[in-house]
Amino acid sequence: MDLGLKGKNILITGAAKGIGRGIALAAAGEGANIALHYHESEEAAMQTAQEISEYGVKVSLVQGDIASLEDVRQMKEALDQEFGSVDFILNNAGWTQMKSFFKYEPKEWKKEVDVCFYGVLNLVHTFMPEMMGKNQGKFINIVGDSARTGDRHFIVSAAARSGTISFLKSLAQDVGRNNVQCNTVSLGLIDQGALGFNEATLDKLMKQYPLKRLGKVNDVTGMILFLLSESADWITGQVISVNGGHSMLG
Ligand SMILES: NC(=O)c1ccc[n+]([C@@H]2O[C@H](COP(=O)([O-])OP(=O)(O)OC[C@H]3O[C@@H](n4cnc5c(N)ncnc54)[C@H](OP(=O)(O)O)[C@@H]3O)[C@@H](O)[C@H]2O)c1
Repeated sequence: MDLGLKGKNILITGAAKGIGRGIALAAAGEGANIALHYHESEEAAMQTAQEISEYGVKVSLVQGDIASLEDVRQMKEALDQEFGSVDFILNNAGWTQMKSFFKYEPKEWKKEVDVCFYGVLNLVHTFMPEMMGKNQGKFINIVGDSARTGDRHFIVSAAARSGTISFLKSLAQDVGRNNVQCNTVSLGLIDQGALGFNEATLDKLMKQYPLKRLGKVNDVTGMILFLLSESADWITGQVISVNGGHSMLG
């Protein structure tokens, strides 16, 4: 099936490693040009960019802190010169912590909100007007299911990302007239090779999933590619879970 991604310019944030890397490679495999964003993982980003270039598509590295509007604006300036305009954005970047709220320092909860909530606003405000002008665009934001269900272990990032779900629904109502789709993909636990849990904990976690395993990066890429594709042009303002059935929200 041709997803219609050939020649599209896609900005993927946090794409040096993990889930973002997997999505960047999968999109490149469909012929998309990749603006590969990283924050601190420069070496891994260069390695991923090298692998992407083997698909014969254009790849451009772009660095920045998405919590900073200034950084995001500089990212756009750099991409305008080296890459061309961005057609679609997949925001995969995030900074989350797993702990009780009462163990937080204020600067930590601020950072989670700055990255997970304001990061989305910074990207949308900077990049979406151009999409609207072209009458075509897509913005997909990745969150964890905790943003929908609440989770005492991810108490701050869940709240920040719950805010992005509401933001993208409202935005979808506004920019639909410009043929721009905004959707959220909500994940269960995905083993991207760096979860850091011991065997016993992993075993306990798996049992909570109806499908009796954790997700793999490849379980996520299919949904993202679909939402980026022409087949999803009439889907907007939605939250779609890829979570092995861990939560089943109507
Ligand atoms: N893995 C899971 O089980 C799971 C479950 C639910 C949701 N998610 C979400 O899915 C996404 C990908 O998860 P992951 O496990 O592959 O990776 P991850 O370790 O959670 O991080 C994703 C990327 O975010 C980037 N990042 C962090 N702070 C940033 C900032 N201030 N500005 C710009 N980028 C920043 C990092 O880039 P650098 O490395 O370049 O610094 C990092 O590679 C994340 O948003 C995560 O919260 C993951």
